[in-house]
Amino acid sequence: MSSSLTTPKFRVAICGAGIGGLVLAITIGKFAERDVKIDLYEARDAIITAGAGISLSLHPNQIMEELGMHEEVSRFSTKSHGMMYRKSDSKEGGFEWFHHISKLSGTVRMKRQELVDILKQHLPASCTVHFNKRLTTYDKQLAGFLVLHFADDSVASTDVLIGADGIRSSVRKALFETIDQDVVDPSKIRHYADASWTGTSVYRALFPVKNLSEMNPNHVVLKGPVFFCGKEKHIFSYPVSQLIHVSAFISDNRKAGTPFEGRWVSDVPQEEVNEAFQNFEPAVKDLIKCCENPSRWAIHAVNELPLSICDRVALIGDACHAMLPHMGAGAGQAIEDAFVLGRLLAYPLTTLDNVLAALKVYQDVRLPFAQHIARQSERMGCMKDLDVSGYYDGTDRGNEREELDLLKEKILEARDWQSDGGAVAGWLKAERKLQESVGLRNGRCE
Ligand SMILES: Cc1cc2nc3c(=O)[nH]c(=O)nc-3n(C[C@H](O)[C@H](O)[C@H](O)COP(=O)(O)OP(=O)(O)OC[C@H]3O[C@@H](n4cnc5c(N)ncnc54)[C@H](O)[C@@H]3O)c2cc1C
Ligand SMILES: *[C@@H]1O[C@H](CO)[C@@H](O)[C@H](O)[C@H]1NC(C)=O
Repeated sequence: MSSSLTTPKFRVAICGAGIGGLVLAITIGKFAERDVKIDLYEARDAIITAGAGISLSLHPNQIMEELGMHEEVSRFSTKSHGMMYRKSDSKEGGFEWFHHISKLSGTVRMKRQELVDILKQHLPASCTVHFNKRLTTYDKQLAGFLVLHFADDSVASTDVLIGADGIRSSVRKALFETIDQDVVDPSKIRHYADASWTGTSVYRALFPVKNLSEMNPNHVVLKGPVFFCGKEKHIFSYPVSQLIHVSAFISDNRKAGTPFEGRWVSDVPQEEVNEAFQNFEPAVKDLIKCCENPSRWAIHAVNELPLSICDRVALIGDACHAMLPHMGAGAGQAIEDAFVLGRLLAYPLTTLDNVLAALKVYQDVRLPFAQHIARQSERMGCMKDLDVSGYYDGTDRGNEREELDLLKEKILEARDWQSDGGAVAGWLKAERKLQESVGLRNGRCE
């Protein structure tokens, strides 16, 4: 067992203090105590987060519980069981498509900053946070350790580097730019290093509940989360701690993979949102009237990577698999990565000599699953945009309701992804694999 007198078994540098990086530091601190020295490097001057609301499903919630944060999360979050889907692209009025009551109660919604503030307070004593440290690249030294380079020209060293630096990850770029040609085809390097535009943009806004209730006291969003679906567009809106969150998506699948010109996030006039949804029902018009300062986000995603580890470097969260947000699962997947990887690194059997085996287990357990969720998320977006081949495509051929019923079944099937296993089951699987592989030859990035 560890005590403050023992020297740490190795040093871990975490690049990025987002949700993934914070959960990783907390997990290592909780299970390794001072046995692993953690340095957390954050590009910004504080632990802050962009964006408005966030939903956490059952598994990430179980992890919050394992890490002793369940009570605080419950205090700041709104539980929701039901979800209404409407067919809304009609000026005269839409209709309720279906109401889904989840069998898997356990999804909570909260403000992103509140979640991040809770995580910040749980950072362990073994973790040193360094602000204004934007990693630019790293080098591998023959002795095995890594040298980190930062934008302010400073350097630092570490034994293990974790890229938790989000969709535009510098760690991912450096990893693929320096990888051996026999591991990854050089013509694919840019494809893996750079994120791609998905063809989807989202208008986002947040405003007080009373702004909507004064305009329309019977508005459907005041009762709970609603999807307003239409051809190639849909809106997701829900109340979260006295605020209404609006995400209005517009998609053009033909543009997926093409470069996006301009800034990924920009403020836009309300008129632009109104214009985009002018063929939608009156309830949507009311919502948009309340969106006084909307922003538009060009949604990018990380192309499906062939690996998430190389040598003593691993990628987690958005750095590894930034995805479309249609399953509300991106942060949850970052939390699951962080929990499994953190426990593997903290595990008493894991040492500097066999740490590659632990990283390999992380990759085997997490990468295929997270990539599966990313594909499901893309498909879910198409379903809500009435744009899946073989199903209702938004054209009423006289049997619209029947076709919508078939599509509804598909949506419900896709929502059931989290019903098997559990967050802790994921870790137990990783633990078994680690026990089997420790003592065997340590693989390189294969
Ligand atoms: C519109 C939209 C809605 C979403 N809704 C949900 C939702 O409801 N539920 C959900 O689970 N997920 C949602 N997501 C996804 C979720 O936001 C991300 O998956 C999640 O934030 C990923 O966390 P992360 O820690 O991996 O990365 P990030 O949150 O991006 O954190 C990365 C951190 O690294 C820092 N950094 C970046 N580069 C460097 C560098 N070079 N050196 C040092 N530090 C660096 C950044 O400053 C930041 O602090 C949504 C995403 C979008 C776009
Ligand atoms: C909410 O409404 C008030 C007026 O009642 C307005 O001043 C305020 O800007 C609105 N808030 C947002 C975020 O749109």
